[in-house]
Amino acid sequence: MSRRMALAGETIRERVGRREQWYHTLELAPGVVTPGWFDLRTVAEEVLPASLAGRRCLDVGTFDGFWAFEMEKRGGDVVAVDIVDPRAWDWPVTAGDELVAILEDRKQGGRGFDIAARALGSDVTYQECSVYDLDPEEHGRFDFVFMGSLLLHLRDPIRALERLRAVCAPDGLVCTLDAIDPTFSRLFPRRAVASLDGDGRPWWWLPNVAAYERMVRSAGLHPVGPATPVRLPRGAGQPPVPATREVLTHREGRRMLGAARRGDPQAWIHSRPAAP
Ligand SMILES: C[S@@+](CC[C@H](N)C(=O)[O-])C[C@H]1O[C@@H](n2cnc3c(N)ncnc32)[C@H](O)[C@@H]1O
Repeated sequence: MSRRMALAGETIRERVGRREQWYHTLELAPGVVTPGWFDLRTVAEEVLPASLAGRRCLDVGTFDGFWAFEMEKRGGDVVAVDIVDPRAWDWPVTAGDELVAILEDRKQGGRGFDIAARALGSDVTYQECSVYDLDPEEHGRFDFVFMGSLLLHLRDPIRALERLRAVCAPDGLVCTLDAIDPTFSRLFPRRAVASLDGDGRPWWWLPNVAAYERMVRSAGLHPVGPATPVRLPRGAGQPPVPATREVLTHREGRRMLGAARRGDPQAWIHSRPAAP
């Protein structure tokens, strides 16, 4: 029996309807699907182990909780962490209040996770904690550690990966799924190259596949296979990007158009804590 009080079907529909913006596409009851920015359901089949039965799992930066709920569905005992207040994210000093307010609105104090967890009758434990503060003394160690679409938003991605390593059991698995630059990956298949944003928004390093692998290795994680590129499909809540002249003449516009049409370019890596 779930620790959370479950919601009735009609209440779920009503609560989903009242919340305009969802990051994740979640099927919360028969016929009730949240209009997420992304629809990661097919990606989860590819990225997560088929069974996590009896495993202690961690989802870092959970947002509406899609990955945490998927791990729970596979039998995991799951802890999900996030920073609820977007002002506490890694912002460049040049950032304006407007974007912070937009993200605050989208985040709504973690309400999406709460509605979803109750609708699903989930037992996932939610904790407010930065990836930088993950500590084996406080949080224990996990058999499976997942972190999705967060390295891109961190000023210090390698320190974050080091913290994932610190809370991973010695025989555990770390799974990261994050943004990559497909052009740099094609142009420099072996050389680690990344571009830097850091201009008014919490977007920092965009590595090519080789740089992403290097980041994982330099944090003391040993990849158990090659980085696998994947596209994150657009969800019903993400507006289409029109192919206007303005969009087509800017690199960022072309990137957004490609991401909206073909999915956001990312890659996933499974790795284990390397022996010191
Ligand atoms: C782009 S969303 C990704 C959501 C989800 N992990 C996924 O892969 O679909 C980034 C998430 O990371 C969270 N976040 C931002 N900075 C963080 C930090 N320092 N530690 C933990 N979570 C953070 C945000 O609140 C947000 O929920």
